[in-house]
Amino acid sequence: MKKVRIGVIGLGNMGSGHIRNIEDGKIDGMELVAVCDIDPKKLEKYEGKYKTFARSEDLIRSGEVDAVMVETPHYSHTTIGIDALDNGLHVLVEKPVSVHVADCERLFAAHKRHSKLVFGAMFNQRPDPHFAKVREIVKSGMLGEITRVNWIITDWYRPEFYYKTGGWRATWKGEGGGVLMNQCPHNLDLLQWMFGMPKTVRAFCQFGKWHDIEVEDAVTAYFTYPNGATGVFVTTTGEAPGTNRLEVCGEMGKIVVEGGSIVWTRNTVGQRKFSTTTTSSFAKPETWKVEIPASGNGGQHVTVLQNFIDAIRSGAKLVAPAEEGINSVMLANAMIYSSIKEKTVELPLDGAEYEKLLMKLVKGSKAKKETVSVELSAAEFAASASK
Ligand SMILES: NC(=O)c1ccc[n+]([C@@H]2O[C@H](COP(=O)([O-])OP(=O)(O)OC[C@H]3O[C@@H](n4cnc5c(N)ncnc54)[C@H](O)[C@@H]3O)[C@@H](O)[C@H]2O)c1
Repeated sequence: MKKVRIGVIGLGNMGSGHIRNIEDGKIDGMELVAVCDIDPKKLEKYEGKYKTFARSEDLIRSGEVDAVMVETPHYSHTTIGIDALDNGLHVLVEKPVSVHVADCERLFAAHKRHSKLVFGAMFNQRPDPHFAKVREIVKSGMLGEITRVNWIITDWYRPEFYYKTGGWRATWKGEGGGVLMNQCPHNLDLLQWMFGMPKTVRAFCQFGKWHDIEVEDAVTAYFTYPNGATGVFVTTTGEAPGTNRLEVCGEMGKIVVEGGSIVWTRNTVGQRKFSTTTTSSFAKPETWKVEIPASGNGGQHVTVLQNFIDAIRSGAKLVAPAEEGINSVMLANAMIYSSIKEKTVELPLDGAEYEKLLMKLVKGSKAKKETVSVELSAAEFAASASK
């Protein structure tokens, strides 16, 4: 079957990192033929090697590519994504798929118009076997009814310098949020992928708590789920060394994912069943400690990109269909909305209402930033994007 001709739009940290993986021959069945960036300096390096474009519109209409990877700042995921789909191209879009729910809906409407096209999202942590295993256990019912989910994900530490490496970063106008929009889409996506969506969200975002930025860099959120389970999600880019600990409790015990291991402290008798049958005041169900095998990170970006190509060439099932990206966007939007309005938000969030609030924040933005240009090494690319 013929190779998929790819164009990469946006040649910053992520775009150039993906190109390095492609040039290193890590992906089969594709050919990189075109690149695009509005910054002419970013194009220089690729002149003569690939077709270069200063405008995504021109690359999209060039007839040179079958598919594009959208590696640009967040708001343009929607506009470039719609343009590419409407012009018959398959699309792999970076996270977040859009900045807000209403934009997600606009983007997905374009896909609905061209539903034969493959439309994936770069949720590179989905192939990580740790989360896939937890999902499998939860979905199989082995853990019983879920009662509590807590994720402390505070090891997204970013120094002040990071925020200077792009004028769009950490502004309402350029990024549409902070840690929830840039670092946490992965965790929020995994959270909904493993446990489904909560029913309500009450959050406390702190804006520019640790950095000279206008958007949130510290968040604590409380969720309630349709079955009565509760959840707490804590994140920040200001804590070092930080923690990455996912704890999920159910009728049949507790699973903790931390430090590369998954440990299930398994109740031999369900907690509620035990509670209603024991005649002792202080007894607890007997537990067995089960170490669940999972190693490596599942190949991350390379796996998602290979899967996108395989979906185009042979109809492989997508690891992360773009449409599923609306859930992580909705969770992030709901947390910001809840914090600013100081109230509990019922999901699904009203997309138009949130867009109104966000546009007000954009209008009131005072962010002016000095920026520096840097190129990430392969190791920095991997560290910036994976856990
Ligand atoms: N999946 C991951 O692991 C991961 C990790 C980090 C960032 N990201 C995402 O990747 C995307 C890009 O982030 P980054 O860190 O590479 O940003 P960056 O600032 O390093 O690069 C963005 C590039 O896009 C270019 N650009 C801006 N508008 C454009 C347009 N309209 N057309 C063409 N080019 C345009 C800029 O000139 C810049 O070179 C963001 O969505 C970000 O959230 C993903």
